[in-house]
Amino acid sequence: MTELIFPPNFLWGAATSAHQVEGGNDSADWWDWERKAGGPVREPSGTAVEHYSRYPDDLALLASLGLNTFRFSVEWARIEPSEGTFAAAELAHYRNVVERARALGVTPMVTLNHFTLPRWVAAEGGWTSPRTPGLFERYVRRVVEALGDAVPWFCTINEPTTVATGGYMSGWGFPPGVVNVRAWRAAIAGLVEGHKRALAAIHEVRPEAKAGLAVFSVERAANRGGRPADEFSQRWNEDVYLEAAADDDFIGVQTYTRQQLHLPRIMAPLTRAALAVRPLERFAVPWVMGLKDKANGTQAPADSRVTQMGWEYRPESVAAVVRRIAAIYPDKDLVVTEHGVATLDDAERVEFIARGLAALHDTIADGTRLRGYVHWSLMDNFEWATGYQANFGLVAVDRATQERTVRPSARFLGEIARTGRLRAEAISMRSGR
Ligand code: BGC
Repeated sequence: MTELIFPPNFLWGAATSAHQVEGGNDSADWWDWERKAGGPVREPSGTAVEHYSRYPDDLALLASLGLNTFRFSVEWARIEPSEGTFAAAELAHYRNVVERARALGVTPMVTLNHFTLPRWVAAEGGWTSPRTPGLFERYVRRVVEALGDAVPWFCTINEPTTVATGGYMSGWGFPPGVVNVRAWRAAIAGLVEGHKRALAAIHEVRPEAKAGLAVFSVERAANRGGRPADEFSQRWNEDVYLEAAADDDFIGVQTYTRQQLHLPRIMAPLTRAALAVRPLERFAVPWVMGLKDKANGTQAPADSRVTQMGWEYRPESVAAVVRRIAAIYPDKDLVVTEHGVATLDDAERVEFIARGLAALHDTIADGTRLRGYVHWSLMDNFEWATGYQANFGLVAVDRATQERTVRPSARFLGEIARTGRLRAEAISMRSGR
């Protein structure tokens, strides 16, 4: 075989999120979080990459590469900066973004919540507050009505895992940065309910649009000692949200790496015992959820090739996850809504895309209903607690001048998008270096 051919009408895109690219998102919880004295965030987002004003050029660039899909998020904090006050100008702004995309022949895929919350929602407890799912539903309804019929794909919430586990269980540097099992469970429940209410609202307002959750996922490898902790983490970081996606029109798959958990054998019974004693869960759950960090699990094992994030370089992980989800939901459409690599060596990104797509192509050949591939990210941007120190972009951005420079990986993905084919030279990268 000299080339791999992808199905017609495949979505080929690049993704961004509002807070990471727009700049000046000063009504959001993250704006304060970035400034918290002694906080975990390396630097404030500030003007980001000024996408709020530069979106016409950024969209033209995306289209010129040959990509046919743009995934981006609308910012709740801009649209509803105080409770019940909806900013018509902001709704009009996002409508312009959508219309500009359409005019360029680009399909907009809109994420309704990508991590950030309006300051006033966060002040009430964010997703732990029982009011938040209802407030989210009201906001979603407004947005979906305002965007008209031009958006065929909606992601309700981006990676609830990162918000719940990142904010209430881990050292991922997400607000409010506490370790609290009760709040963690409340956040999970709130995010699940928020997703379901948003899904129902979208279905009601735009029955023809497809809506789904964008799910955090990792490929997993654990030895016997690590298995119980790995299963617990999979249950609460992934499966709880996959179950919540049962009625979704599609599931967004977001996978960057493999997480390994290798622990001494004795840890298996210890982990099970610790989790079985309910009154101890206040201590046991954070201990178990944190094991992977102590065992250097999210960080790659010492001898592996790593990205700027310290994650194992493993492009094929995305296909392992697509297979796992397709086995649970064989009849559901799947879209890779994020897959990417932080590196300054763009040849590594080209290889990441080629190997990831070759592995995804195998899953399609085996019958998965994979409908698209959206790369993270269109351009270098604000990488949350890591600030601007990670380069995920197909396009480089010089923040001093805001000049955009197209990297070879962008042209590489663009050519695949235009032709629907992955060439032989690229496939030979499959084996890696
Ligand atoms: C998020 C993005 C983030 C990316 C790389 C995903 O978890 O949705 O916002 O930039 O991963 O870390």
